[in-house]
Amino acid sequence: MAYITQYEKWYAKEDYFWGTEPNELCHELIKLLPPAPGIKVLDIGCGEGKDAVFMASQGYDVYAFDITENGIAKTKRLAETNNVKINAFVADINNFKIDEKFDIIYSTGTIQYLVDSEIAPFFAKVKEMTEPNGINWFNVFVSKPFIAKAPDYDENEKEWKSGQLFSYYSDWKFERVDEEIFRCNSSGIPHLHCMDVLVARKYTGKVLGPEDI
Ligand SMILES: C[S@@+](CC[C@H](N)C(=O)[O-])C[C@H]1O[C@@H](n2cnc3c(N)ncnc32)[C@H](O)[C@@H]1O
Repeated sequence: MAYITQYEKWYAKEDYFWGTEPNELCHELIKLLPPAPGIKVLDIGCGEGKDAVFMASQGYDVYAFDITENGIAKTKRLAETNNVKINAFVADINNFKIDEKFDIIYSTGTIQYLVDSEIAPFFAKVKEMTEPNGINWFNVFVSKPFIAKAPDYDENEKEWKSGQLFSYYSDWKFERVDEEIFRCNSSGIPHLHCMDVLVARKYTGKVLGPEDI
């Protein structure tokens, strides 16, 4: 039987579950690698498309996928409403195949759905799919012994170790490495999350010396 996420049901509603305003990460990406003709972006686990559509509206050439049919249908609808073109399709983060290279690859709230055996191959793949000087942006909830599990924890989400995300990018330039603890009220019960955020650049220039800094 095909694996169906709870998101499929949530996205079936007329309203946009996550709203239509872009995440702050989009503004961070624009500063790091501003839009220009031919600059390609991939949004992995795009949900209902709020970030992908915003990035397209800024002039990027955007590809976006999600495992949910309803999410992709809404992404396409949002793109039409905003009069932008976007390449949106259904795919699974665990086995997607795209024969393209990208300047920016990002994913918010989704890499925890990678199964254990696919985590290392996923990062090898997205790093290979990134153009020289391109950017990868990821975030993921991580477990800490002093923070209780969220009450609405989804059993399909893998618990990541603190710092694990950063370890896949030791050969790239870190633009941002963050770990933050914040309050959350999802499910109506206040709780805490710890989240790791990584922004890394595929630096492929010459070996740097003190004259370069
Ligand atoms: C927390 S939501 C984030 C959605 C979107 N990135 C946003 O910020 O609005 C996580 C997304 O991951 C998607 N997802 C879950 N499992 C997936 C998988 N195996 N492959 C691709 N997407 C998946 C869900 O459908 C959902 O849209």
